[in-house]
Amino acid sequence: MLDLIIRNATLPSGATGQDIAVQDGRIVEVHPKIDAKAGQVIDAGGHLVTPPFVDSHFHMDATLSLGLPRLNESGTLLEGIALWGELKPELTVEAIKQRALALCRWSIARGTLAIRSHVDICDDRLLAVDALLEVREEVKDWIDLQLVAFPQDGYLRYARAPENLKRALDKGVDVVGGIPHFERSMAEGAESVRQLCEVAAARGLPVDMHCDESDDPLSRHIESLTYETQRLGLQGRVTGSHLTSMHSMDNYYVTKLMALMREAEIHAVANPLINITLQGRLDSYPKRRGMTRVKELLQQGINVAFGHDCVMDPWYPLGSHDMLEVAHMGLHVGQMTGVAEQQACFAAVTENGAKVMQLEGYGLAPGCHADLVILQAGDVLEALRLKPARLFVIRRGKVIAETPPVKAQLKVLGNQAIDFMKQ
Ligand code: FE2
Repeated sequence: MLDLIIRNATLPSGATGQDIAVQDGRIVEVHPKIDAKAGQVIDAGGHLVTPPFVDSHFHMDATLSLGLPRLNESGTLLEGIALWGELKPELTVEAIKQRALALCRWSIARGTLAIRSHVDICDDRLLAVDALLEVREEVKDWIDLQLVAFPQDGYLRYARAPENLKRALDKGVDVVGGIPHFERSMAEGAESVRQLCEVAAARGLPVDMHCDESDDPLSRHIESLTYETQRLGLQGRVTGSHLTSMHSMDNYYVTKLMALMREAEIHAVANPLINITLQGRLDSYPKRRGMTRVKELLQQGINVAFGHDCVMDPWYPLGSHDMLEVAHMGLHVGQMTGVAEQQACFAAVTENGAKVMQLEGYGLAPGCHADLVILQAGDVLEALRLKPARLFVIRRGKVIAETPPVKAQLKVLGNQAIDFMKQ
């Protein structure tokens, strides 16, 4: 007898009428009309069933701190960084933990079961590192949480960053971060990339840098990151996050750069909600969008994922950690309304994010973890369009969250109940 069968699922591939059989926390079969008994049967009723959403770029140490110690009056990136600097001395391990755990509850309810969070190591107390390591342990049965040692104030610009980074990695932080465009010069930015990649190579860790989060078309640290990836044999383990300067770069140069990125198997993570609000701020009109070249990177065979980046923090006052909101914005900013492009935007918050995080056992194939989300939507486009209720969120074959279907009851025009799904 199986542990669980989900009947009549529509899959992200478009396949309909699929049953998913689960045993011992793993998917054992995906097939129409599986003839077997199970301890629990869930009728998906033709709804979309997907592997969980993945947020491959987030800041859990700052989340839900909106208004502390004050609001970002200008709404700009630089005031956000200044505000974070004002908040840092006030932080406590317990306060960071409670906010992070509140965010994790939202994530589970939204079906986001893997998160890569940067954690600022330019606080010599490393309170946020200690807090998020505890959170990683407390949520591990439900969320795969990876932590990135992130030198927010610059790896070479902040004097104690190298020592703090080493301490954070020794404590168990998973990934080496960086912020080369925030160093004091182009040369120092490149030097920070070199040193940080060497740290990662020596420790056998992945790299995920905030890279070129700038409108400056000459911010080309992604070229250094790509070079160091090749030099140190880090192919497939290195991620360039944001990469917003690529939006403004010379087109000829970008063709060369993208080929180099593909050769080095660099992952790219765009953060559409944040890039569209923080970039292009010094432009008059026309105003640049600031998001990296998602469509073109994908066309070159480079893995591109979308991150949420911020929820209610010094940089972004909105959000509820809904990765479909991120995909929806990415689709609009990237003008990705083509049929295959819609699918690509959904993949950017699911399977592509899993590749960035190098998650084991992610997906719908037999042998994968039975981590699944049943959405109140008939297909991928409907999920993007409606950002619908996550009817069931399943982790290792067990239901860990439920949301009732959303329905409105009209009092006019036939007094019908409506759910906004295609009829
Ligand atoms: Fe970020």
